Amino acid sequence: MGCACSTKNGSPMQVLKDEHRVIERVLDAMEVQLPRPVDAEFFRQAIDFLRNFADGCHHAKEEEELFPVLESVGIPREHGPIGCMLNEHEMGRAFIRVIDANIDAAAQGDATAASTLRQAAAGYIQLLRQHIDKEDNVLFVMADRALGPHEQELMRTAFARADGASSCSSKHQYYVNLADELARKSA
Ligand SMILES: [Fe+2]
Ligand SMILES: [Fe+2]
Repeated sequence: MGCACSTKNGSPMQVLKDEHRVIERVLDAMEVQLPRPVDAEFFRQAIDFLRNFADGCHHAKEEEELFPVLESVGIPREHGPIGCMLNEHEMGRAFIRVIDANIDAAAQGDATAASTLRQAAAGYIQLLRQHIDKEDNVLFVMADRALGPHEQELMRTAFARADGASSCSSKHQYYVNLADELARKSA
């Protein structure tokens, strides 16, 4: 399956929403894996995707480009929606570290490691689904109201620049394909 995400087309919030749809494919695939014996290769690939696409490309655009601009137009950080989103990004990183630390032992039959990995994966799935829902339906709606056409254009350019600087533009299709491969493994 291809992906409509492109910083060349569409509004900045649509770029982020399109990336959410790719991330959700991996969350769905992880959920299917939870009751199965731990497949080390699947979880290594999922962590590659989550660290380098979900965090490295997607959360980086939000944290470095979108959130500072939203703060500058009056959307609060501390005790507000931006602080909440940043906190959830950190919680996600903590879950990923736990999954990563337990893959090898879980795949070798360590029941405690497998249980810890499954709990962390389930926690990550639940966290990211509700996080994406809040961004799609609350924060990005606020952003689209707060940002005029000029700010939207600046944001679109900033996203393209961020993707270029972090080589996300060149890695994008690789990670979309990886999301499809993980979905196939979990079919
Ligand atoms: Fe986010
Ligand atoms: Fe997001």
